[in-house]
This record gives sequence, C-alpha cells and structure tokens, in this order.
Amino acid sequence: MPTYPDPNALETVEKRLSSFPPLVFAGEARALKRQLAQVAEGKSFLLQGGDCAESFAEHHADNIRDFFRVFLQMSVVLTFAASKPVVKVGRIAGQFAKPRSSDVEEQGDVTLPSYRGDIINSTEFTPEARIPDPERQIMAYRQSAATLNLLRAFAQGGYANLEHVHEWMLGFVEKSPQVERYRELAGRLTETLRFMKAIGFSAEEYARLRETDFYTSHEALLLGYEQAMTRVDSTSGDYYDTSGHMIWIGDRTRQPDHAHIEFCRGVKNPIGLKCGPSTTTDGLLELIDILNPENEPGRLTLIARFGADKVQEHLPELIRAVEREGKVVVWSCDPMHGNTVTSSTGYKTRPFDRVLREVQQFFAVHRAEGTYPGGVHFEMTGKDVTECTGGARAVSDEDLASRYHTHCDPRLNANQSLELAFLIAELLQEGREEAPKMAVGA
Ligand code: PEP
Ligand code: CO
Repeated sequence: MPTYPDPNALETVEKRLSSFPPLVFAGEARALKRQLAQVAEGKSFLLQGGDCAESFAEHHADNIRDFFRVFLQMSVVLTFAASKPVVKVGRIAGQFAKPRSSDVEEQGDVTLPSYRGDIINSTEFTPEARIPDPERQIMAYRQSAATLNLLRAFAQGGYANLEHVHEWMLGFVEKSPQVERYRELAGRLTETLRFMKAIGFSAEEYARLRETDFYTSHEALLLGYEQAMTRVDSTSGDYYDTSGHMIWIGDRTRQPDHAHIEFCRGVKNPIGLKCGPSTTTDGLLELIDILNPENEPGRLTLIARFGADKVQEHLPELIRAVEREGKVVVWSCDPMHGNTVTSSTGYKTRPFDRVLREVQQFFAVHRAEGTYPGGVHFEMTGKDVTECTGGARAVSDEDLASRYHTHCDPRLNANQSLELAFLIAELLQEGREEAPKMAVGA
C-alpha cells in the first residue's frame, strides 16, 4: 500500500468516496456471478480484457469506443466458434492501481519511487509527481463513472448491434494478411446471420441482437479506495464492493493472511485470483477455502498466468487438486503476464507467438485433464499501438518505438486482439467437435 504523506487528507477523501453513489449495484454483480456459474459448468465462455492501466490522460470517448468495438468483435467470433454465450468483462472503469515489482525506478543516476497507477501518483519522472496524492482517488472515481456511463449507453443503446459488429469483423478479415485462414469462419457467420434475418430474427425486432451485457472489473489493489466503495446491499444485507462488478487479487498480493485476501473474503462480488508459477496446490486450496467457503459456483475465477513455457509444468497439478477436492471454479487464461520480455530495442514487450502458445497450452492441458478451459484474460486496446511484437502484420522490435503508449504493461493492439480471437476460435471449435463424442461415450 502507498504511504500517503498527509493521513488526514487521505481520510477526508475516503469519507467523501464512501458517501458517493455506487458505480455498480449488487444485483448486477449477482447477475455476473450467475453467468460465471454457467462458465464453471462449461456452458459459457469468459472474455475478460482491457488496459493494463487506465490513465487520466487517455480518458477519451474514442478510446472507450475503439476498445468496445474490438471487444465486441472478439466476443462474436468466440460465441460463434464455441456455440456458447460469451460473458463479457472489461478491465475498465476502475483499473487504475498497479502492483510494481520494484518500489523504485532508476533513470541515469536518479532514483525515484515507482509509478503506481494514476489513482496513486503520476508517470512523470519528478519527485513531486511520484508522491501519492489522495485526490487522485476522486478523479479515478469520476473517470470510472463517466466511462461506465458510456459503456452502458453503447451496450444498451444500439452500438452493440450484432449486424454492425459482424460488418466491422468482415472489414478486419478482408484486410488481414491471414484473410484465407479467417474467411471460412467469417463466411459461415455471415450465412447464419442471413438465414436468421430471412426467418425474421432481425436486430430491429429483437433487443437481444442489438444489446449486450457488459461488466467491469479491476484488480482490488488499493484497499482504502475499495473499502470506501463497499456498501451493504439493502436486499441481501451482504457487503458488495461497488467500484466494479468483478474484482481480482493479483499475483503479488495473494498471501492468505494478508489484507487483500481478507478484504475480498468479505465482499460478495465475483472474485478473480491470479495463479502463477509460485502458486502451490496446498496454497491454492487454502485460498479457495478462504475466498469461497460455500463452494458457490461463479464466485471464484482462477486466472492462470504462468508463461508459455511453464503451463505444462504447473497447471495440471493445480487442476487435479481442485478436481480432487470438488471445488467449483472458472479456469481462465491470462497469457500476458508470464510472457513479458525486453526487446532488443529496450522495450518491455510480449511476443504474439508466446501469448498464443500459452493459450494453446492452457487448452491442451484442460483437454488432457478432462476439464473445461473457461476463458481468457487479455491486456488489449482498440488502438493501433505497437507494444507487443509479432502478429499477422508483424510488429518488429524496431517498430515498438513508433506507438508505444501504455502506462504500464504492453497491450495487444486492435488487430492482434482480433487475430487472437480467431485463433482461439479454432481451439474452441476443436473442443466442440470432441464434445458430442464424449456425451455418447458417457
Ligand atoms: C495485471 O493483471 O495487470 C497484473 C499485474 O497481473 P499479475 O498480478 O498476474 O502480475
Ligand atoms: Co499488466
């Protein structure tokens, strides 16, 4: 946790926050939990993604729109390929606080406290900018409210119209260097939509075709902020963290006897738990018991982030332990955080091939264990940035300098995100083909 130089100022801010309207309401968090319970049962698929860190400087309608546009296209591709509903959860409208591996940043012979996310301090490399400022929590709250407002308008106001999303997706396919590979799936989707229209299912008539459910999530890292946003739900009497629908616990803050676990244990939102190479089977089972003592379906999503080369080594034993103990969880794959490397040009980056390989390994392990690969978790943007290398329009180490905009970790750009969705679609279709055989055998 940051140390604020003026504890009174912090207290004043937390008091104000606790009197502000909630950003989401408990009934929505419960609806998401029900949808995640469907994922745990293998009946839906989870797509979670967005910025590594939202920033005050990039708070712009175009950024929100472009992210949502790509996210919807990914979701349509995945829905079609899986023949299952896709639960859509953004890393947005609250994803401001960042855990850092080092408390300090060095540039030349100057050492300053690390940047910890716009909700805490500023990226600027000056001593003043790095001092934690509680007023930033109010700014983060207001930005989250405005972002959420626009997302709700997009989700319910016609922007999410399936027919439009489908047309945007066709535009991507036709311009992709991988057009031959993606055209087949896109063509089948086009035919399906034409058929639906022919028999009378059009977006003008059916709200389901022009609206969508969209949920928000972020890492519950800055506990003072999260606690100030926590309210007792009047219908159930339970505590909900109303800063977002779903919150997750990061890889660095999941010690069972520490504050982040203690906080998350006490709220009823759906909870994510990052699992990395240091997660042991006993440690995981202990955390599952603390966070989900009733074994409630949809409550807990385990977000595996091992790195492409470590999935095979770590994931099978965790899956077996969870299965053996009869714990109901969603297994999701974060192929970003275990695959960060430094480019030859000095940038923190992630090679597209490694990201893809981690997802493939994740699916392969689940298939081998007979369990369900329930979802994916990406750091992505709707903009044409150059932060991750590779992809069909290969971003090279030299290209990284041209549009490297992230405030923290490298994100997939719009094309890389959609491309990944098409490649995951292939994995989902393989799974779909296996499923009926399994049913017949059972
Ligand atoms: C993140 O999701 O941005 C993050 C820091 O992940 P992890 O806790 O898995 O390192
Ligand atoms: Co990150």
